[in-house]
Amino acid sequence: MNAVLNHCEENSPYLLANEEAYQDWRSSKLENRGQVTPLRVFTLNAQGLLAESQLAAAQQQVEAYNFVIFEVPSRDFSKHDFVTLNRQFGLHDLDDNLGADADKVTALRVVDEADQRAQYIPYTNRAMNWHTDGYYNPHARRINAFSLYCVNQSARGGGNFLFDHEMMYLLIRDQSPELLEALMRNDLMRIPANVQNNRVIRAEETGPVFALQPITCALNMRFTSRPHNIVWKSDKCSQQALNLVREILMQGEAMIEIRLCAGQGIICNNILHGREAFQDDPQHPARLVYRARYYQAIDFARGLGAQSTV
Ligand SMILES: [Fe+2]
Repeated sequence: MNAVLNHCEENSPYLLANEEAYQDWRSSKLENRGQVTPLRVFTLNAQGLLAESQLAAAQQQVEAYNFVIFEVPSRDFSKHDFVTLNRQFGLHDLDDNLGADADKVTALRVVDEADQRAQYIPYTNRAMNWHTDGYYNPHARRINAFSLYCVNQSARGGGNFLFDHEMMYLLIRDQSPELLEALMRNDLMRIPANVQNNRVIRAEETGPVFALQPITCALNMRFTSRPHNIVWKSDKCSQQALNLVREILMQGEAMIEIRLCAGQGIICNNILHGREAFQDDPQHPARLVYRARYYQAIDFARGLGAQSTV
């Protein structure tokens, strides 16, 4: 583990040395999951926010599943409204990724082949396999949460599958602490630089699958099932650990499937997720989903009016 942990080291349940703290965290995680249903939809109020009376339930939902599904009361919900809602969840600092608009929110839709973004799967109608968002980002720009708002759903397909990264951690640690340790090594994953037309768009990045966030000590996961543009450490232990992640995803024990309707969205910590392929109907508006990525994790205490921590 590296120096980033700072004050987290002593009591974090995510460190193998802290078995007691882990067992406490594990019990409360599983208890929370037994108390709430993952597919509960929170209807926003007329201001496009969670009502004060819903905050405790939303908090428990996050602790249990690391995501909250919301629904807007009217379709008149702008990108600005979307960003304001995210701030209520303590999400303030947007990541400005390659395909994002000027407001740093990304409009995910099928783009023309001539559009440079067409080379990236999110801007096509193809399926996206398991990943966490921005796994290729440099350390200073770790993605700890993201949100989606569905303006229009496709005619067919386009559903999402979700897997709470904390549950992945729990299932691996229960099965093999040794393999979990391998997933926390800083040299496990190497993402070569993104070079286009002799220009470095993104420098090479190396890091672990599981790490602790420097300020909150919460768990961060970086993962992709894509075989391209990623080099995994090749020793036996690392490979076994990665295979265990893949196996657990295939078994799907804690997988949740959702298909957002127009006017619905999801706000989540950076959980594992993917997307089915989809087909638009030319007679109807094409699929359009807004996506916002954040450096912070969800924290209602840092909600509207609070200051950024980054
Ligand atoms: Fe994603």
